[in-house]
Amino acid sequence: MIIPIVLILGSLGSTLAGTTIEFQAINCRKHSAVLTDFGGVGDGKTSNTKAFKTAISKLSRYASDGGAQLIVPPGKWLTGSFNLTSHFTLFLHKDAVLLASQDEAEWPAFPPLPSYGVGRDEPAGRFSSLIYGTNLTDVVVTGNNGTIDGQGQAWWDKFHQKKLKLTRPYLIEFLYSDQVQISNLTLINSPSWNVHPTYSSNVLIQWLTVLAPVDSPNTDGINPDSCSNVRIEDCFVVSGDDCIAVKSGWDQYGIKFGMPTQHLVIRRLTCISPDSATIALGSEMSGGIRDVRAEDIIAINTQSGVRIKTAVGRGAYVKDIFVRRMTLKTMKYVFWMTGSYGSHPDPGYDPKALPEIKGINYRDIVADNVTYSARLEGLKNDPFTGICISNVKISLTEKPKDLQWNCTDIQGVSSEVTPQPCAPLPEKSIECPFPEDRLPIDNVKLKTCSART
Ligand SMILES: *[C@@H]1O[C@H](CO)[C@@H](O)[C@H](O)[C@H]1NC(C)=O
Ligand SMILES: *[C@@H]1O[C@H](CO)[C@@H](O)[C@H](O)[C@H]1NC(C)=O
Ligand SMILES: *[C@@H]1O[C@H](CO)[C@@H](O)[C@H](O)[C@H]1NC(C)=O
Ligand SMILES: *[C@@H]1O[C@H](CO)[C@@H](O)[C@H](O)[C@H]1NC(C)=O
Ligand SMILES: *[C@@H]1O[C@H](CO)[C@@H](O)[C@H](O)[C@H]1NC(C)=O
Ligand SMILES: *[C@@H]1O[C@H](CO)[C@@H](O)[C@H](O)[C@H]1NC(C)=O
Repeated sequence: MIIPIVLILGSLGSTLAGTTIEFQAINCRKHSAVLTDFGGVGDGKTSNTKAFKTAISKLSRYASDGGAQLIVPPGKWLTGSFNLTSHFTLFLHKDAVLLASQDEAEWPAFPPLPSYGVGRDEPAGRFSSLIYGTNLTDVVVTGNNGTIDGQGQAWWDKFHQKKLKLTRPYLIEFLYSDQVQISNLTLINSPSWNVHPTYSSNVLIQWLTVLAPVDSPNTDGINPDSCSNVRIEDCFVVSGDDCIAVKSGWDQYGIKFGMPTQHLVIRRLTCISPDSATIALGSEMSGGIRDVRAEDIIAINTQSGVRIKTAVGRGAYVKDIFVRRMTLKTMKYVFWMTGSYGSHPDPGYDPKALPEIKGINYRDIVADNVTYSARLEGLKNDPFTGICISNVKISLTEKPKDLQWNCTDIQGVSSEVTPQPCAPLPEKSIECPFPEDRLPIDNVKLKTCSART
């Protein structure tokens, strides 16, 4: 008789009072609330846009009193775009699914980003991102692997059918923000890019699983854009575009805005992207990209390892790039640099604005089942210089290309690389550099916080 009573009490206890989950965050909050306190309905059909707006607007009052967290409990929560606030945490329970609305009325229209001048899909502008924040300090989006489902198919169809009036929304985006954490989430089927930190600093991205069909258009994983001090760790990305794309604005608009992406660490990334790069630098890089440190990278069935994409008109630079310990399996290219990426916002770009590509360091790489070892294409009258490649073992596929290293307008050195590199990368007995100092973002300490769901 006793055992059943204990079981009943136990299960009642957990449904009434919920459970407490511990999680790691840059800051814990004094105040806590649950979406259902604000009229949220998790039936997968009712729109929760208003519930999110009301919740976050009310909780924003605690910003100067210890901050607040909003918990999304188990359920399917349909919602349009909503804005976050400072000193705030959004926590998704592991059985919570945010379903992005397919109704365009749920997505406010924004002008193009100033560093892009035009919208990426459609010049007129763009839809707000699903989870959006601008001019914020100290904001966390996390969970215990809760899901954000972009329900992208409807947007992909509109993109292919040329029926978009504005650029497709992203899933998570911060502009002009400082101290941002995005962690322990599963992001699926984004309408376009998944995570887009922009004009921001001190950004920590950890333990994200990003999944999209490999033929879905522009479903990039994580795109830091004109950001400083960014750390991306332990992420798994399967997508239809670059797993990570490092950016900083487009042609004359990006040059004028002039904000680089710099001091970026990427570690323990696993990528599957048959038609794109594991890590792309560009193609929009007109504010400059410098001091990127990538290590312990795995890619499987992916088009290329690190790819630099630039063009005449971009201006600025990609320099001081350091990559070590990549394990690659079934790749079209191991190394790829392109100076002729083309794609301009409008005909107003400056044909004299040549990008400077220099100080590109790759070492300790093992690649299997490779079609081309390298395609390194600089620009005429603007060679890519200071390329260093050391300790690289590439095994080829059954039908490799005859010309394994195709190098034009580039200069550098190589050491212990097989198959033998091209003449512009002569053998020199060296180990390519990798900085040993720590960036400020590496010293961020996480606190143990709790959420009662
Ligand atoms: C979010 O804030 C921006 C202004 O920064 C505003 O234009 C937009 O309408 C807000 N979005 C929502 C969903 O309220
Ligand atoms: C956000 O910050 C930027 C840069 O400081 C500023 O230009 C912009 O007006 C701010 N926007 C809002 C909504 O406060
Ligand atoms: C976040 O993910 C890491 C790695 O899987 C795990 O150790 C940690 O417990 C997770 N945190 C939560 C709150 O689930
Ligand atoms: C999070 O969920 C995704 C999708 O279900 C799964 O693939 C991944 O392994 C999960 N991660 C953790 C740490 O449980
Ligand atoms: C090797 O790569 C080819 C494509 O070049 C692919 O068809 C094949 O499945 C790969 N083999 C293995 C063992 O992964
Ligand atoms: C080598 O690269 C150049 C420039 O990217 C390209 O035009 C040419 O077709 C390539 N050659 C081969 C044999 O792949």
